[in-house]
Amino acid sequence: MNIILLGPPGAGKGTQASQLVETRGMIQLSTGDMLRAAVKAGTAVGLKAKAVMDAGELVSDEIVSGIIGEALDALPLTTGVIFDGYPRTAAQAHALDDILSTRGRTLDFVIELEVDEAQLIERIVGRYTCAKCGAGYHDTFKKPRVAGVCDVCGSTEFKRRPDDNAETVRTRMAEYRAKTAPILPIYEARGLVRRVDGMADIAHVSAAIDAILGAMG
Ligand code: AP5
Ligand code: MG
Ligand code: ZN
Repeated sequence: MNIILLGPPGAGKGTQASQLVETRGMIQLSTGDMLRAAVKAGTAVGLKAKAVMDAGELVSDEIVSGIIGEALDALPLTTGVIFDGYPRTAAQAHALDDILSTRGRTLDFVIELEVDEAQLIERIVGRYTCAKCGAGYHDTFKKPRVAGVCDVCGSTEFKRRPDDNAETVRTRMAEYRAKTAPILPIYEARGLVRRVDGMADIAHVSAAIDAILGAMG
């Protein structure tokens, strides 16, 4: 099973993808996470991407489609994939069709997380992750069970993303509206789009997604 999670910054793509990794053994391919890893490692891709990401704009289609293709090549065909934050433009949507078909994969669902943008700023500025294992948290909505200690790995070090400030978030949302939301009709025409209320609490969103995927057996 291969699915796309689509929604603006802070919609909960990463949160829901990591749930699916746990419950279904799928693999999460987040272009944002992969680009942040490239920036941290100081690779050629990372050097190109850093300023663009810090400004909240989109990295080039060639770069992101390239890293998605490489990531898929490293996976067995039987492993289900969750595309998180990719595709984000019409060019990427068409590239993904080629990337999947040349590897014998098909797309099963495009799950759109429907959200109220005005409320997403609070989600984004409150977000942080474990510096060691990357587990995601929120100041209000998803605190660690023991304050200051990662539930997953026990680390006490956390970090925040440089693009998680109110100004950059506005640019990221504008990019979503201008370039990403317009790709939905491509998938609507194929009958692949399912909508989920992304403003429900995290467990309810997970249950709604599970109900959609459950039909896949
Ligand atoms: P990326 O990393 O993909 O960022 P994004 O799309 O802006 O999305 P976020 O990761 O901010 O949000 P999310 O939907 O994952 O929300 P989360 O689950 O964390 O991309 C970053 C940058 O990389 C881009 O701006 C671009 O420059 C570049 N890039 C990446 N992919 C690219 C591509 N394909 N093409 C070109 N450029 C690309 O949730 C947010 C917070 O809310 C968390 O704290 C969470 O705990 C909390 N939360 C989640 N769900 C709920 C809920 N239901 N109720 C309450 N709180 C919730
Ligand atoms: Mg994310
Ligand atoms: Zn951790």
